[in-house]
Amino acid sequence: MTSYKELGLVNTRELFRKAVAGGYAIPAYNFNNLEQLQAVIQACVETRSPVILQVSSGARKYANKTLLRYLAQGAVEYAKELGYPIPIVLHLDHGDTFELCKECIDSGFSSVMIDGSHHPYEKNVALTKQVVEYAHARDVTVEGELGVLAGVEDDVSAEHSHYTQPDQVQDFVKKTGVDSLAISIGTSHGATKFKPEQCTRTPDGVLVPPDLRFDILEEVERRIPGFPIVLHGASSVPVDKVKQINSYGGKLKDAVGIPESQLRRAAASAVCKINIDSDARLAMTGAIREVLAKNPAEFDPRKYMGPAREAAKELYKHKNQDVLGSAGHA
Ligand code: G3H
Ligand code: 13P
Ligand code: ZN
Repeated sequence: MTSYKELGLVNTRELFRKAVAGGYAIPAYNFNNLEQLQAVIQACVETRSPVILQVSSGARKYANKTLLRYLAQGAVEYAKELGYPIPIVLHLDHGDTFELCKECIDSGFSSVMIDGSHHPYEKNVALTKQVVEYAHARDVTVEGELGVLAGVEDDVSAEHSHYTQPDQVQDFVKKTGVDSLAISIGTSHGATKFKPEQCTRTPDGVLVPPDLRFDILEEVERRIPGFPIVLHGASSVPVDKVKQINSYGGKLKDAVGIPESQLRRAAASAVCKINIDSDARLAMTGAIREVLAKNPAEFDPRKYMGPAREAAKELYKHKNQDVLGSAGHA
């Protein structure tokens, strides 16, 4: 049993309180390997931003759960070595069972998500409450979810988006005791968040998605004023990254994300955690494709993982400074 406090990590409570009051959002970036973690920490240290390091079930399977946990622990020291000790949360992304949440809490996570959104309402309440009771006894914070995002949520899958019903949020928060709530207002996971037929096109062919359902977000805020809200599936799928990938041999078709202007608007409201994974994947893939296309004889992983890390870092800095507004709040 390791408490996150021994590892120098923090839970989300104080970070969210300040973010809601200050009208910005804390970045939640997924990591699966050393270079992604380095990019996140470098970017957040340089922009003086708090950060939520997210680990999915897929990441734990890919990189080994013990190694990932030690990497996150190392991140606390790494930030200090870079010259500025930022607050770091280690968070389980899309936990789907009580057992998984408990295992993460016991190994030093400071925050967990229990994603019961695919269950019937009462089962979601019971499961979330069970995780909250275990977590709060150890001062670990918990994110729940109401409403289902379109696409694949790790082991949780949903074909269609079911928007959050504002009528349920007050009851859910009261019955479960969660610390934050992920809601569904039109975002989804991955790099193709909307079908082309749902979008309009600019004259040069760029897809423009429909607006997020800010009316639902406002209804939710009205019912639970000041309560921390989370947005999953919040990558913007930058056009220049998609172009870079496709011009060096990639075949990404109809990729489209959430416009940054909409994320800024959400961050200024009760949305205080914004989850971004796909954008960093795109930035890294674009950099790797370009290096390898231009240097076909290259075979040293540092020669393409280094530029990939740099591209991800620049992207994270941009998010902190220009989209989420978390820069300067560490
Ligand atoms: O919500 C999904 C995250 O982007 C994690 O994705 O399950 O492929 O690690 P993953
Ligand atoms: P994106 O796929 O939009 O980056 O969303 C990531 C996410 O929600 C992780 O939980
Ligand atoms: Zn998610």
